[in-house]
Amino acid sequence: MELKNKNIILGVSGCIAVHKSLDVASQLVKQGASVHVVMTSNATRMVQPIQFQVISRNPVLLNLYDSKDDWQPPHISLADLADLLVVAPATANIVGKIANGIADDALSTVAISVHCPVLLAPAMNSYMYQNAFVEKNLQKLRKNGVNLIEPASGLLACGHEGIGRLEDVDVILDRIVSVLVPKRDLVGRKVIVTAGPTREYIDPIRFITNRSSGRMGYAIAETAMARGAKVTLISGKTHLEAPANLEFRQVETAAEMRKAILDDFDTADVVIMSAAVSDYRPSEYSSVKIKKTEEPMTIPLSRNADILLDLGNRKDPDQLLIGFAAETDNILQNAQQKLVSKNLDLIIANDVSAEGAGFEVDTNIVSIIDGGGKCDQLPLMSKHDIADQILNRVVQLFQK
Ligand code: CTP
Repeated sequence: MELKNKNIILGVSGCIAVHKSLDVASQLVKQGASVHVVMTSNATRMVQPIQFQVISRNPVLLNLYDSKDDWQPPHISLADLADLLVVAPATANIVGKIANGIADDALSTVAISVHCPVLLAPAMNSYMYQNAFVEKNLQKLRKNGVNLIEPASGLLACGHEGIGRLEDVDVILDRIVSVLVPKRDLVGRKVIVTAGPTREYIDPIRFITNRSSGRMGYAIAETAMARGAKVTLISGKTHLEAPANLEFRQVETAAEMRKAILDDFDTADVVIMSAAVSDYRPSEYSSVKIKKTEEPMTIPLSRNADILLDLGNRKDPDQLLIGFAAETDNILQNAQQKLVSKNLDLIIANDVSAEGAGFEVDTNIVSIIDGGGKCDQLPLMSKHDIADQILNRVVQLFQK
């Protein structure tokens, strides 16, 4: 009964995945929550309000003008009561309305009246999801602290294949619990997280880099912060927004990343190196643009310092050091070797060639290996859920 005494507004908009929200409502009731469903008129074409009414054991709000008993407008009384508004599924339409403060029906009016956390689970066709205006709306919501459960990829009801599927009920429930009952087990801890790729410049225009999107590191930084840690995020160039309420350091090269970490290392309780640091840099940097010639070209490279190895050599026994190993073969064996040679407490190994894992996606498949050789192979999960798992292990190590 993790959600006992919690009042949750479940917003339901008109998407074919609406059947999953019946299950969400039912699970929330089982967890002890008081569930108040608000449906858009399109949602009522997909399922009957009576179904939500019976499952939630509360009246379903369909419009703002039918209330006979209450002197207060229903959107205000609901908003005053709510501990959380979750909209699942959230169509492009309701996403757009909430992002732009439009209130022209019960759900959109409730959404701008609430003063509690908001969690949206978008679901739509992949072209709709990637539409520039929808993307802008989602970006605006993220920036303003709205929690999003990014849709999954797969075969969509419309017949297309791609991103846009409403996440599984379990994932939605886990996120609801983590927003409503956040763990605060990292209060008083200082965490340094690195993320993204480094750039090693050849000349003012060209550089050597890699496919890291930074998403895993950003998810770790956000999750550590939500669990109470003081977080410094040291990031190579990515397309991601710098999360609010943490110390953000933008770097480009491996040398800059190394300096930024060393500046703070002595006061850190844990360093999580999820950045994809370049092992090499061009031996010579040309300060002017290199012109092409008819000859083939080779660029001599020099080794960069291995930051994690340096940290492993200088860490105190009470500091934790966590590395990543992105591999394509002999994954666990290679990761284990890196854990030992760099004096790490944990290493997160992932097969970057597996579907749904590695670069440029919101999910990953990882194994967490500890100093005793214990290896936890996790299933495909969102990067935020993986971040939670890694931090659970960090907390366990602190407790030892
Ligand atoms: N790392 C680092 N400094 C580097 C290179 C990598 O700190 N110059 C860190 C990464 O952030 C990651 C871990 O080390 O946490 C990866 O280990 P590493 O052996 O360097 O992996 P690769 O660079 O992929 O090594 P290899 O090419 O040998 O597989």
